[in-house]
Amino acid sequence: MCGIVAYIGKREAYPILIKGLQRLEYRGYDSAGIALLNGALSVYKKAGKVSDLAEFVKDKNLTGTVGMGHTRWATHGEPNDRNAHPHYSESETLAIIHNGIIENYASIKEELMKRGHTFRSDTDTEVLIHLIEDIYKHEQVELEEAVRLALAEVVGAYAIVILSKESPNELIAARKGSPIVVGVGKDEYFIASDATPIVEYTKNVIYLNDGEVAIVKDSQLVIKTIENKIKTPYIQELEIHLEMLEKGGYAHFMLKEIYEQPRSIWDSMRGRIDAKRGRLKLGGIGEYEKKFVQADRIIIVACGTSWHAGLVAEYLFEDLARIPVEVEYASEFRYRNPVIHESDIVIAISQSGETADTLAAIELAKARGATIFGVCNVVGSSIPRATHAGSYTHAGPEIGVASTKAFTAQVTVLTLMALELAGRKGTVAESRLHALLNELDSIPGKVEQTLKVNDAVKQIAGKFKDARNFLYLGRGYGFPVALEGALKLKEISYIHAEGYPAAEMKHGPIALIDEAMPVVVIATRHSSYEKVVSNIQEVKARKGKIIAIVTEGDEIVRKMADYVIEIPDTDEVLVPLVSVIPLQLLAYHIAVMRGCNVDQPRNLAKSVTVE
Ligand code: G6P
Repeated sequence: MCGIVAYIGKREAYPILIKGLQRLEYRGYDSAGIALLNGALSVYKKAGKVSDLAEFVKDKNLTGTVGMGHTRWATHGEPNDRNAHPHYSESETLAIIHNGIIENYASIKEELMKRGHTFRSDTDTEVLIHLIEDIYKHEQVELEEAVRLALAEVVGAYAIVILSKESPNELIAARKGSPIVVGVGKDEYFIASDATPIVEYTKNVIYLNDGEVAIVKDSQLVIKTIENKIKTPYIQELEIHLEMLEKGGYAHFMLKEIYEQPRSIWDSMRGRIDAKRGRLKLGGIGEYEKKFVQADRIIIVACGTSWHAGLVAEYLFEDLARIPVEVEYASEFRYRNPVIHESDIVIAISQSGETADTLAAIELAKARGATIFGVCNVVGSSIPRATHAGSYTHAGPEIGVASTKAFTAQVTVLTLMALELAGRKGTVAESRLHALLNELDSIPGKVEQTLKVNDAVKQIAGKFKDARNFLYLGRGYGFPVALEGALKLKEISYIHAEGYPAAEMKHGPIALIDEAMPVVVIATRHSSYEKVVSNIQEVKARKGKIIAIVTEGDEIVRKMADYVIEIPDTDEVLVPLVSVIPLQLLAYHIAVMRGCNVDQPRNLAKSVTVE
């Protein structure tokens, strides 16, 4: 969603801002803008891509060592030049960029209009900067205090940065509900909504907490709460490197990330399993281990692809650790008065660690006494900080909007959690546990081997790139994978696709099947293999086209299917980690062939920080 980058220091700000905005492009946006302090407070903004903004500002005065930039994902007001950020205050001496939603903006706006304010946009953000100026002028306080007083009146979520023409050596940032990272350099500071625009300048960062304001004035950084309490900043070292944020020779980030999976799966289990000795250690669970073992139920909350990883986890936990699991869309869970007990473990899964609904679901479960574990990818993000314990996935930065390596990293960590719990509870025989750990150890190699299907998948993609609909079917562990395959396709190729439990096809989707309908079936040789074979026949009897994901050496499905993609054999509980790979590739190639913007699909955002 919206991206924020700002700079104050001795360098020219514009090159840092425009590059920062390009690094933030992956979050998904519809317009972009910058503000620079160079005697004047100049604001330039444009609907469209960062490249449109760069073109637009070419002949403008781009000097100045203080500035800020923003990519907007529209909530209030359509995506046009006028509604793009930054927004000026009434007198145009202040400007703001904002990520989040000011929920009570309408009443504040009405009040300000009565006092003579006029607004140039339809946004909630503009209201906030007018309010700040109103307080600044009428209360005759420092800018920083005016910001704090205004924020105390605001209901909603925000990450903001403010510049003032009258105070050209000052920059103010604040957060509540939307992330802000402060990069600390030598006599210079970088502010951003995530670390990607900062990493090439400094590794030292401070993650603002909710309700904190960062004031950089005359080269000094002070962090305060909105209530004016000084906080001691905690400087952390970033673990990401610049090359992780670049395509490294691949045509798209998504393809690079698909190919990174042998490594990202390995990194997510490295140091956590000792396959030879059959041992497992999840450090992040630490003191909550006993609660985990004694829990009566696990509730998983997540959105999107992370929710699919949660579904895989439901099968894993129930199968291996014999504990009831409920998998919930965070957005539904938070609004339906769920039954939560103190003995419940809630696992929140999130790549970004910032998804607003997942965060809200955590707060609800926490308030009702449950213990919350996080499975997140972005270190220092909001969700890991809101949970009691958890384990990071070590997928590295995921830039493609359609999640790939984060999914397999999540499934890896959740598998470890299920195995750990099964081991502690004694629900799986020691020998089976040992065998599963050994098999898990071999998964990165099997994923590497699976990636060799790329050319074959590309050919199949060529045959179906013009299809209008796709159906994805699977049973057991294959069902969440079918859902994920369908999601990948619709996200990036805009082809309508549905994932279904194979047996449920008879209760609806079968009506859609004709010779134009491609049906992707996860038909690996596991417990419901024969049943899936019957489902394939049902599709064939109605002239549907079968693309089957099969275990290598399969001869039965090969005879029935129109196309088969072979994957290496593995234990049933681990098969999602392998079977999802060809589905990611299929979506990728179809999207490329259709000329779609694979890494930044229309309307989607990488991290959904509004509900
Ligand atoms: C957005 C992204 C998806 C992601 C979902 C949940 O919709 O486009 O790729 O799966 O949010 O995000 P999270 O960061 O919580 O995993």
